[in-house]
Amino acid sequence: MSTPTATAAAPSPAAPVRIAVIGAGLMGREVASAFGRWFALLDCPVRPELVAVCDANAAALDWFRQVPTVRHFDTDHRVLLARPDVDAVYVAVPHHLHESLYLDVLRAGKDLFAEKPFGLDLAAARRIRDEAHKLGRFVRVSSEFPFLPGAQRAFQLARSGALGRLLEVRCAFLHSSDLDPTKPINWKRQNKFCGEAGVMNDLGLHVAHLPLRLGWKPTSVYAQLQKIYPTRPDGKGGTASCDTWDNATLHTTASIGGHPVLLTLEMKRLAPTETNTWIFEVLGTDHGVRFSTKEPKTLWRYTRTPEQTWSKTDLGFGTPFKTITGHIFEPGFPDILQQMWAAFLAERAGLLGDRFGCATPDEAVAHHEIWAAALASHHEQKIAHLA
Ligand SMILES: NC(=O)c1ccc[n+]([C@@H]2O[C@H](COP(=O)([O-])OP(=O)(O)OC[C@H]3O[C@@H](n4cnc5c(N)ncnc54)[C@H](O)[C@@H]3O)[C@@H](O)[C@H]2O)c1
Repeated sequence: MSTPTATAAAPSPAAPVRIAVIGAGLMGREVASAFGRWFALLDCPVRPELVAVCDANAAALDWFRQVPTVRHFDTDHRVLLARPDVDAVYVAVPHHLHESLYLDVLRAGKDLFAEKPFGLDLAAARRIRDEAHKLGRFVRVSSEFPFLPGAQRAFQLARSGALGRLLEVRCAFLHSSDLDPTKPINWKRQNKFCGEAGVMNDLGLHVAHLPLRLGWKPTSVYAQLQKIYPTRPDGKGGTASCDTWDNATLHTTASIGGHPVLLTLEMKRLAPTETNTWIFEVLGTDHGVRFSTKEPKTLWRYTRTPEQTWSKTDLGFGTPFKTITGHIFEPGFPDILQQMWAAFLAERAGLLGDRFGCATPDEAVAHHEIWAAALASHHEQKIAHLA
């Protein structure tokens, strides 16, 4: 009789972590999909099982009826939270509901995988963070792009100190989905649902996660905020006010290695030619690194030489958690979403090791501090300073 090998994808013998989803929209379905192919992961010590789904719109639950592990379908999140067979909850609802639903999850005794921006504004984010701390709940916040192999490589190079004295850093997340003025309005384009920070609330954690993890928190901000289309079709034959900031470019200064460094944070919904482009670029006096989802298998690096030259490395599937996927294949968004969940579950179990962890409540609060300063900067048309 042959002995099973360690890589034979034997399921983890430990009981699965029972997960519930509140908000059965775009992101709720992505999570179900990631769990459904958990067997692709080779070395994740924890296994999730999606057991319950809740959406205020009953029709949104129907898609989940094909997921064999789901046994509870609820339209009231309080009913779901009263269920004893749920260990942790993923909440993916519009931003104005984050605070009340996240607090309900924590007070029901469940751990929380939250969505960005972690509350409508800074005050809400602080209240959620503080309640989680008081109750001792494990909470992390969704931010997928740092789990891409290219992002991991760029992060490690930036962290290593090998780039020399840093000159400038650019972090960007660029969409063009709102360029069409006939696109009907939705909750993400209205302050009362998305928050006054607008596109910064929507796309901001994606750009702020790595600099904050590296300890590069801005000390000052000069913000250029743009509202491009003030109205949009309301989808019912009329028009509706579109009052969120569409594009935000923040020229910030961070103290890195004892020196002031230019850190540019760009979040745009009207960026012609860009679909879902995430960029992380760090330039130092000795070396530089650049990664963009525009070229998802390419890591750009330079080394100071008499000639100014970028060199490129073709990347494979070097994700933090090992998978069955061929090492030369290209990863995509569903893969990094699964990696992010593996990090959440491993860290919750105390088994993350030296792998990259998900965004923390403190990082979510810190990113709101930057957006609050950016709003003040734009309002007063001057540089705003952060504490
Ligand atoms: N991490 C990412 O890459 C990423 C991408 C997109 C969206 N998001 C975030 O995910 C969250 C949800 O965004 P989405 O695009 O999935 O939105 P969505 O509009 O597709 O889905 C939201 C769902 O929440 C439901 N809902 C509203 N009120 C509810 C309530 N009281 N109880 C239960 N369900 C309720 C709606 O019916 C809807 O089905 C937001 O915080 C957003 O910023 C994250």
